[in-house]
Amino acid sequence: MMKAVQWHDTHITILNQQALPHKTEYLELKNIEDVWDAIVTLKVRGAPAIGMTAAYGLALAAKLYETDDLATFHTKLKRDRDYLASSRPTAVNLFWALDRLMKSVVNATSVNEAKTSLIHEAICIQIEDEDVCRRIGEYALSLFQDGDRIMTICNAGAIATARYGTALAPFHLAKEKGITLHAYACETRPVLQGARLTAWELSEAGVDVTLITDNMAAQTMKAKHISAVIVGADRIAANGDTANKIGTFGLAILAKAFNIPFYVAAPLSTIDLQTKTGDDIPIEERAKEEVTHIGGVRIAPDVNVYNPAFDVTPHELITGIITEKGIVFGDYETKLPTLFEEVFA
Ligand code: MRU
Repeated sequence: MMKAVQWHDTHITILNQQALPHKTEYLELKNIEDVWDAIVTLKVRGAPAIGMTAAYGLALAAKLYETDDLATFHTKLKRDRDYLASSRPTAVNLFWALDRLMKSVVNATSVNEAKTSLIHEAICIQIEDEDVCRRIGEYALSLFQDGDRIMTICNAGAIATARYGTALAPFHLAKEKGITLHAYACETRPVLQGARLTAWELSEAGVDVTLITDNMAAQTMKAKHISAVIVGADRIAANGDTANKIGTFGLAILAKAFNIPFYVAAPLSTIDLQTKTGDDIPIEERAKEEVTHIGGVRIAPDVNVYNPAFDVTPHELITGIITEKGIVFGDYETKLPTLFEEVFA
């Protein structure tokens, strides 16, 4: 499996997700501006991968500070944390990862110790995410039968995480175990993460994948007897309302109409108990050109465009939330906090 993000002592390497599927290209991010730009321009994307990249970005920035004074170090670190946090507003993993790094240096007694702690913490985030995604995949797989046809949107796959993905983890694990799951990937306009990334990632992994355009979802659910929908998440509020790629909410409504289970797969780092409901989740709006152009070619006149990158699926439409600590069914407000209390199994 391809690694979306990799730490090197002098730079970070990312798989350029804007170049896929035409080109498998790795980019070197050498400073904090490169990291910010890669996140904003979706060269690296997907909530856990954004968090990992920002964490490495902060560690890299700090490594370059030329000071031995701890107070100056902390001032610069806070400035750079805020800069990276301004890259994208919706995926809470970004803020979670940056805050984890900030906490890792609170008790540092020297600048050198702090620099080492930041790198160590960022590497831990990536290592842990691989294990977390595998666990999510195992739980998700327990919900499916051999031969199931499962719909997904966007790319919540290996390239959006450290490995395996969240919503795509059961497909990768099923493949490893010789179980057949058929993926139906919505193309995911406007940026085409489903067509460019999920179709590519799953076909590269030898998973049976069928691509549909977003407006084919209802017909496909009916004609192809879709067994379930599984999606990733950018932020899950305390009551279970879930922000994910634009189009997810529509799929949840369709799933209800067809009486198909609708699952959200996400790590605990995507659950934001400080955000009470979906109404409190900031929804990123992106440039109009993402809608008026495809692959750099204009497909619409220069009219007004509304381009929200995410929508919020209300918790009532979610059959279960699959995490590394198990699957939560309903009553999310009561049950989600308990996931954070239990010792990691
Ligand atoms: O705009 P993107 O491509 O970063 O949006 C990504 C998604 O919506 C994913 O479903 C989500 O981040 C989960 S990735 C494991």
